[in-house]
Amino acid sequence: MVLKRIIYQGFRNLVDAEIEFSDDFNYIIGDNGAGKTNLLEAIYYAGNASSFREKEDRSLIRFDAEFLRVEAEAGCDRNAAVFLDATKKKIVLDGNNVPRISDFIGWLGVTIMSIDDIWIVRGAPAKRRYFLDWTIAKISPAYVAALVEYRKIVRQRNRFLQSLSENGSRKLFEVFDEQLINCGNKIYQKRAAKLPELKQIFAEFGANFDLKKLNMEYQTECPDMELNEQVLKRVRPREIARGQTVVGPHRDDLLFSLDGRSMQHYASEGEERAASISLKLAEAEMLYRTKGERPILLLDEVSAELDTTKRDILLDLLRGQVLYASTRMPEPDHASDGRNRLLHIERGKVEVS
Ligand SMILES: Nc1ncnc2c1ncn2[C@@H]1O[C@H](COP(=O)(O)OP(=O)(O)O)[C@@H](O)[C@H]1O
Ligand SMILES: [Mg+2]
Repeated sequence: MVLKRIIYQGFRNLVDAEIEFSDDFNYIIGDNGAGKTNLLEAIYYAGNASSFREKEDRSLIRFDAEFLRVEAEAGCDRNAAVFLDATKKKIVLDGNNVPRISDFIGWLGVTIMSIDDIWIVRGAPAKRRYFLDWTIAKISPAYVAALVEYRKIVRQRNRFLQSLSENGSRKLFEVFDEQLINCGNKIYQKRAAKLPELKQIFAEFGANFDLKKLNMEYQTECPDMELNEQVLKRVRPREIARGQTVVGPHRDDLLFSLDGRSMQHYASEGEERAASISLKLAEAEMLYRTKGERPILLLDEVSAELDTTKRDILLDLLRGQVLYASTRMPEPDHASDGRNRLLHIERGKVEVS
């Protein structure tokens, strides 16, 4: 998919505007705090009705505004608008109201690559689950629905586990376990179906950055990625003691390794960065293979911490429409190509040159 135009109002520090993009490379250049990430966030928001860096989307509304509105026009005459104020969110896709977010996510096809992606490799397991979930979510609306349901089930089951010691209604275990097993396995099946391809593409991109045998292994307490009664019986004492659901898709992890060694223990920062970039490129490639269209790549200062060799490799690997945000232009001057567009941003105001 190609983003033709975006129109935004009341979004972060951005001065209300309408911007047209080139189908190829778009550079977004501005100082720190100018609003580069905010502009990428507005685009992402138009594609997913949620932010990549904010759980509470009300903080996206400009400090002095009552509401925000983002409208995107894409190739093949597709368009969408997201409206948000203190009380409601309204989503419209191709002229129709969309009540369920799972019917909206991914319509535009966007992959965000950020300097903070290193935390997917380096940080807590939740970062890796978030990455995996979003990669699959953009491909499969059913997965989003299962995730939403699963979270609800875990919350309810946790509440039940916490109340156990007081009233001891253990017969309810069967009901809660069955729900967890059914919904948890929907998630496992999807993850298991997508992982081999993700792994393979990830390793291929890694090789481009000279990462030898870059690999990810799924880590879970559920053998063969399956939740069942035996697993739950085994962890029951722990669950009762902690008042928490301790197994299932919400507790799993991905273990990254390089040439057979765990990255968390042995990798250098450069290797961690190259691996995190390979992850996002793999996400984009998965989207392409599933949907037959390249996602829009949003790059947020990704090259800032890369040496020139890695940066050039990265620029070579980018396919499709690219929005490249940085404090300065990469050299040699890629913007001189006629199909590219240069956008300067200063205190939230975008100037196209
Ligand atoms: N809801 C908001 N309303 C107005 N300004 C905001 C809002 N949220 C963030 N900002 C401002 O946006 C600026 C940061 O923009 P950002 O896009 O992160 O800059 P950068 O160009 O460095 O990526 C900060 O000055 C911050 O105060
Ligand atoms: Mg930024």
